[in-house]
Amino acid sequence: MKTTVENRFIWYNGEIVNVNDAKINVLAPTAQFGLNVFEGIPCYFNEEQKQLYAFRLDDHYERLLRSAEMLEINCPFSKDEMKKALIDAIKANEYDENLSVRQTLFVDGFGSWGAAEPVGMFVAPIPKRNTGKEYNKTGLNVCVSSWRRISEDMMSPRIKCGANYINSRMGQREALKNGYDTCVFLNRFGKLSEGPGSCLFIVQDKTLITPLLTDSVLESITRDTVIKIAPRLGFNAIERSIDKTELYTADEAFLCGSAMEITPILSVDGQKLNGGEAGFVTEKVHSEYLAVVKGEKIYSDIKITPVY
Ligand SMILES: Cc1ncc(COP(=O)(O)O)c(C=O)c1O
Repeated sequence: MKTTVENRFIWYNGEIVNVNDAKINVLAPTAQFGLNVFEGIPCYFNEEQKQLYAFRLDDHYERLLRSAEMLEINCPFSKDEMKKALIDAIKANEYDENLSVRQTLFVDGFGSWGAAEPVGMFVAPIPKRNTGKEYNKTGLNVCVSSWRRISEDMMSPRIKCGANYINSRMGQREALKNGYDTCVFLNRFGKLSEGPGSCLFIVQDKTLITPLLTDSVLESITRDTVIKIAPRLGFNAIERSIDKTELYTADEAFLCGSAMEITPILSVDGQKLNGGEAGFVTEKVHSEYLAVVKGEKIYSDIKITPVY
């Protein structure tokens, strides 16, 4: 039986339960301090094959475990158990549409921000159409945030943990308040880093350029996928630090991420890019990305996992 979003089933500490029955103590460190690490795992439905594919599962779990290790959150589950939990949660809802699956390890109990246990896990599939507004746009008017991206010497931007999203929130709320769809951050050295929930590419002379991972950037799986896809489409992809001026004067630019896919940037601080239209390179990368995630195109170095 198909579920509504408000009554969907989730995997919660080993059981499939209605989302309303999954309870977390209000004093738990995850609730009070954002002490959790998580992944947003994209799954795409292939209409022709009547199959749902989970994208780069192993890479998502490896990043989840790296985030957990950095925060000394002991993960009580193996990769296979995490994979099975994701598949069971999707099957429980009989989903046959594109999803973003939230898989979260969290610190529960009555401890403080220094607590290491108990650790729980939930897996909650979210139909893609129900994800945030900025993730469902065909083009974005962005600003360069007045907030800087968190840096390695403070809170590692490589850790995908709830608390890091406070920095994202500051940038996103400022952007919305000023009439933009979202923002890009500079890092503490004044170089471009990333968006609040996505990575940045600029395109110059058909070359895709993205900030270094050491420029205060999450180790994004979509960013890595774009770097793998681009040469197959005849475009160079390089990683280097980028000045703000290069964004304003780029031929094209886009944000990318599991939720964002590949979304063109139409303007920066009111200055149009490519005449305010999606660019040719961006569109080619986006359609190739969609073909790969849906299993229409197979790349030997990009793994997808059938759910059904
Ligand atoms: C801050 C930040 N940067 C980049 C990304 C893109 O990462 P991925 O492509 O793995 O979804 C995300 C999304 O999770 C993010 O939150």
